[in-house]
Amino acid sequence: MAGPRVLAANVMRVVPRIGARSHVRASATASLLRLSAQAGGRLSLTRAPSHCLRVASYSSSAGGAASSPPPPSTPNSSRPATIEVNGKTYTTDEWYNVPQTVLALTGRKLHLQKDHPVAITRQIIESKFPTATYKRYNEFDPVVSTIQNFDSLGFPPDHVGRARSDTYYINETTLLRTHTSAHQADTFRASASDGYLISADVYRRDEVDRSHYPVFHQMEGARVWDRTKVPNGDVVAAIYADLAKLPTHDVKVEDPNPPHHPERNPLQSEHHTPEEAEAVAAHLKRSLELMVVEIFTRAKQAAARQDPNYVDEPLRVRWVEAYFPFTSPSWELEVYYQGDWLEVLGCGVCKQELFINADQPQQLGWAFGIGLERIAMLLFQIPDIRLFWSKDERFLSQFTGVQDGLDKLKRFVPFSKYPACWKDVSFWLRSTSAAGGNTAVANVHDFHENDLMEVVRDVAGDVVEDVQLKDQFTHPKTGRKSMCYRINYRSLEKTLTNEEANDFHERVRQGLVEKLGVELR
Ligand code: PHE
Repeated sequence: MAGPRVLAANVMRVVPRIGARSHVRASATASLLRLSAQAGGRLSLTRAPSHCLRVASYSSSAGGAASSPPPPSTPNSSRPATIEVNGKTYTTDEWYNVPQTVLALTGRKLHLQKDHPVAITRQIIESKFPTATYKRYNEFDPVVSTIQNFDSLGFPPDHVGRARSDTYYINETTLLRTHTSAHQADTFRASASDGYLISADVYRRDEVDRSHYPVFHQMEGARVWDRTKVPNGDVVAAIYADLAKLPTHDVKVEDPNPPHHPERNPLQSEHHTPEEAEAVAAHLKRSLELMVVEIFTRAKQAAARQDPNYVDEPLRVRWVEAYFPFTSPSWELEVYYQGDWLEVLGCGVCKQELFINADQPQQLGWAFGIGLERIAMLLFQIPDIRLFWSKDERFLSQFTGVQDGLDKLKRFVPFSKYPACWKDVSFWLRSTSAAGGNTAVANVHDFHENDLMEVVRDVAGDVVEDVQLKDQFTHPKTGRKSMCYRINYRSLEKTLTNEEANDFHERVRQGLVEKLGVELR
């Protein structure tokens, strides 16, 4: 990955990568989702779900959704009866699919580790939201219910985000949160302040490359107003009064779309007047623009301090229509940075059902979510997401003292990169039915790419930099499908010997046979 360029490309993926990576801009995905939602009355399952703000998003999933449990996506005969996360014990069932390696990361809390780049990024963002209004919640437990993570937010029962191929389940109703929005409903119900910021680790089964890791961090923020508490009951006036108290900035903002659009980005007309939705949106947009201006100004200052030839370009940001099941209208904020438009956050006017279900029907407001690693990679020019989990002093020491003096923020200076070691693995998929038959059903495979990714991570852990589909074809007569993946073994810490790489690769091959039932070619 050459700096942030790849980050830019890693937005919502509509088409799974086949050979080369196919990417479509997040906003395009979002509107596709929305269109298919309208046409079919349901969200299309073949599209990348758009609740997925992360370093990059879910890849489009060929696997089914979760409404009726599919056979285990990876055999889990070695499933423990109970597991412990942060001192609490949970009972597993056949839904359990959390590898030990992921479980081991639940206690790391990088967002709270002093001078860790994720924690520094959190601090920079928090600095733009005064504590008096925005109460901080940085210790919410990663284990949540399917109700918290999905149902409370209006995710349909067959949403692809619920699939076992995409989400780490402890049991049928308990999972490792896939986003910080899992805490929205409870935090609105508690109603302890006019706003909040939640920072936390989130978990998604995903591909392996330099910007994807099964655990990453998000920050969620919200601001609410209470119709019964504002002067004269005039909530629009109250919101504009709060907006007037915010600082201004002089960055160029492109906001070409209407504040709401009947099909593309609807107003919640049964709950909000157009003036109310526009007031909430105006406060939301200014608040988030101020945050983004702060982040990118700091990134540029760091770049300029270190690079005498640094050419400063004026910052440009733009608002793009989006879709999330729990906000409407919804947007993404994109920033033009080093030649690309980068999607930095998702947000919108909270669905009123959230407040109604939280016994706060008189409240209304906005929410946003942002991926912290993605921002940290930009701020510090960190080229590989595995580095965040490194305990190597050559990494960690570069950030010492930054939290106590943000002006010391410096770009990361990469230590020497060790040679890559590419190895291919080719195999026939097992067919789920009509074994050996040459009928159309022989084409049905229960293979999901994320299962392969997990086998690779399980064997080689952080020694794998990247896994890419090189080739696939279906045999014209038998209907059997063959796939070839290329795995890049490259440690962050040392040069791998050929024997070591071969050993990893052999174990990956065996793992694929044992866990996914493929036939090696
Ligand atoms: N939870 C969303 C995601 O992970 C982001 C989001 C948060 C969007 C809050 C809108 C409001 O992509």
